[in-house]
Amino acid sequence: MRLKHCHNFHDFRKLAKQRLPSPIFNYIDGAADDELTCRRNSRSFEECDLVPNVLKGVSHIDMSVTVMGQKLQMPLFCSPTALQRLFHHEGERATAGAAAKFGTMFGVSSLGTVSLEELRKTYNTPQVYQFYFHKDRALNQVMMERAKAAGVDVMMLTVDSITGGNRERDLRNGFSIPFRLTLSGMLQFAFKPMWGINYVTHESFKLPQLDDHVEMSGGALSIGRYFTEMLEPSMNWDDVAEMVKLWDGQFCLKGVMSVEDVKKAIDIGCTGVVLSNHGGRQLDGSRSPFDHLAEVVDAVGDKIDIILDSGVQRGTHVLKALSLGAKAVSGGRFYLYPLAAAGQPGVERALGLMRDEIERGMRLMGCTSTDQLSRGNLRFR
Ligand SMILES: Cc1cc2nc3c(=O)[nH]c(=O)nc-3n(C[C@H](O)[C@H](O)[C@H](O)COP(=O)(O)O)c2cc1C
Repeated sequence: MRLKHCHNFHDFRKLAKQRLPSPIFNYIDGAADDELTCRRNSRSFEECDLVPNVLKGVSHIDMSVTVMGQKLQMPLFCSPTALQRLFHHEGERATAGAAAKFGTMFGVSSLGTVSLEELRKTYNTPQVYQFYFHKDRALNQVMMERAKAAGVDVMMLTVDSITGGNRERDLRNGFSIPFRLTLSGMLQFAFKPMWGINYVTHESFKLPQLDDHVEMSGGALSIGRYFTEMLEPSMNWDDVAEMVKLWDGQFCLKGVMSVEDVKKAIDIGCTGVVLSNHGGRQLDGSRSPFDHLAEVVDAVGDKIDIILDSGVQRGTHVLKALSLGAKAVSGGRFYLYPLAAAGQPGVERALGLMRDEIERGMRLMGCTSTDQLSRGNLRFR
């Protein structure tokens, strides 16, 4: 199978599976506990049908949206994800390059493998910086100042990861950073020699968002221990309110679900919230963001930008979320499998197919701009 044979999410997933050592594929593909929430995230879109209007004159389609002050040429953007150079040696450079080509936003994770400064300088498109809250408040301040100085457009604090999810596939394979693979995990790397050749012949693995601040080199601190030892489990609304004030710009919380929490986010001055369950990788059994979107939009949709994240695989999923009142949609695996499959051309193909699906879907729905998508065009079964 080759990139040109990939026509949808499932094809990219299949190609990524062919190319990646299985512990790495399973790190991307896997989720928490029984992976119920991960499966539900995509299935929830199937319980909602689109009701098109015809004969509307749909020759020109404008799918741009403005979210948290950022104008995006398409309503779908790339959520921040960790460790991208493990998936393909181009890593975040491929994601950012593809996002820039399509005029959309990309996120850089705290656990990213290319520096936020390099990405900001090289790619001219809105950039989010995903942040974790550390016990050391001075460190939080330094890291935020660094992001501000680099010109990051949106600060995104992840709040659904106060402790790591129980990802049993990773436990079975011994997947951790630095690698502590089980014997069978190690064997899987031997089956994918091209991945290994690329890994050793390209720039060595680093975590540049953290390396200047946290001693992680030489296996001194694993990512697991970074979460348990350095992040602040007592983080609360007052802490975040201080951060929002300090940032003094577009600030959103990622991983909020309840209306009560979105109201608090508004009170402390956030400009956006990402309704997300981390792609089912944290609290298994938690509700899917699409199932929950209407409740949040009805309560506070006019007071804050709501972004729908988790489970998105199709252009019609994006259209359904926008119709319910999301300002934009984001996702992880929809571009990570293509990244793993083929680097930047892979991410470009994924974004291109999504853009085509959104455009075709809008035409067939009888909508020429995203603000024409409404609940009138939706029915739940
Ligand atoms: C491999 C992988 C790594 C991720 N790393 C991060 C991260 O570092 N920080 C973060 O806030 N979310 C992270 N996420 C969650 C994504 O930002 C996003 O919420 C999730 O992928 C959405 O679900 P989807 O994959 O079904 O689209 C990660 C997700 C995956 C699949």
